[in-house]
Amino acid sequence: MTNIDNLKTKYASAISAANGLTELDAVRVAALGKKGEVSLQMRTLGQMSTDKKKVMGPALNALKNDLAALVEARKSVLEGAALNAALASEMLDMSLPVKTDTGTLHPVMQVMEEMAVIFADQGFAVAEGPDIEDDFHNFTALNFPPGHPARDMHDTFFLKPNENGDKMVLRTHTSPVQIRTMMSQEPPIRIIVPGRTYRCDSDQTHTPMFHQIEGLVIDKTTHMGHLKGCLMDFMSAFFETDVEVRFRPHHFPFTEPSAEMDVRYARVGDEIRIGSYNGKMGDKWMEILGCGMVHPNVLKNCGLDPDEYQGFAFGMGVDRLAMLKYGMPDLRDMFAGDGRWLEHYGFSPLLQANLATGLS
Ligand code: DAH
Repeated sequence: MTNIDNLKTKYASAISAANGLTELDAVRVAALGKKGEVSLQMRTLGQMSTDKKKVMGPALNALKNDLAALVEARKSVLEGAALNAALASEMLDMSLPVKTDTGTLHPVMQVMEEMAVIFADQGFAVAEGPDIEDDFHNFTALNFPPGHPARDMHDTFFLKPNENGDKMVLRTHTSPVQIRTMMSQEPPIRIIVPGRTYRCDSDQTHTPMFHQIEGLVIDKTTHMGHLKGCLMDFMSAFFETDVEVRFRPHHFPFTEPSAEMDVRYARVGDEIRIGSYNGKMGDKWMEILGCGMVHPNVLKNCGLDPDEYQGFAFGMGVDRLAMLKYGMPDLRDMFAGDGRWLEHYGFSPLLQANLATGLS
């Protein structure tokens, strides 16, 4: 028993003397580790007489438990001290002025913020979905029949087939999030979906990765008039000037009727001015987005009864709207990661877009 008492005294004092977590762990290993002194003692139990074992077994077990408890207690003291030291040394003086001479917000992020602020004011919530999608959400549920040419028109990036032979895709648009939302949420639904999208395409106005913002409203009464009002208000708020729009009939598999919306603009030299310029409306039209009333098949595919529910959807390219608003000539520059470009076109990360003080 003296041996046990000695071990207890030895390690209890080593534990309380340990001044850091590494040191404490070394003591723990020396006593309780696989080859630790206490563990070695426990291994001798097998060779003891039954009577001796009856005494030594419980005694060694108690020693083990006592030391483990001491280690835990010391550990939480040391951790507390380490946290206090970190808090003291890493303290930030919030009253100091922030260094603002490095780092800017990318125009795409700025524009997505601006859009979210405008749509939030119209009562939209933000929804998100995965960049890697399955065929069902990206195409089938959106009323693209299997083998439909529109699937190829999207220049889809396909992933290697899985064990069932199914190929996942990099989502070609943000529209699959319409499906995900309708399948997981009861109407009324009023969401926007800002996010990354992918198509195998690259030139002055296309990059393989780009950004879209999708809108979806589902309830029992929303009609095309609401769609028009919503988008007209959005455009004037976004471009921070009067903007005139027109709707042209178009075709998308997931809306019926479908339309494209154009905005009026003027060319001034090399520059494009959206809306009015010098008090005059521009004389040209530019296509800005696709929209329409959600197709009954899409509602059905999501388990909604088209005789009961209806609504509108729209989708637009964020990068292109950023280029138009802030006068950037080449889409590819946006994703080239050139610090000089970011310094020139970037926004202060400290200025939050809001409708009261102006968006940009
Ligand atoms: N998903 C379409 C595209 O990427 C854009 C779009 C058009 C979205 C019409 C919509 C819509 O929600 O109603 O080309």
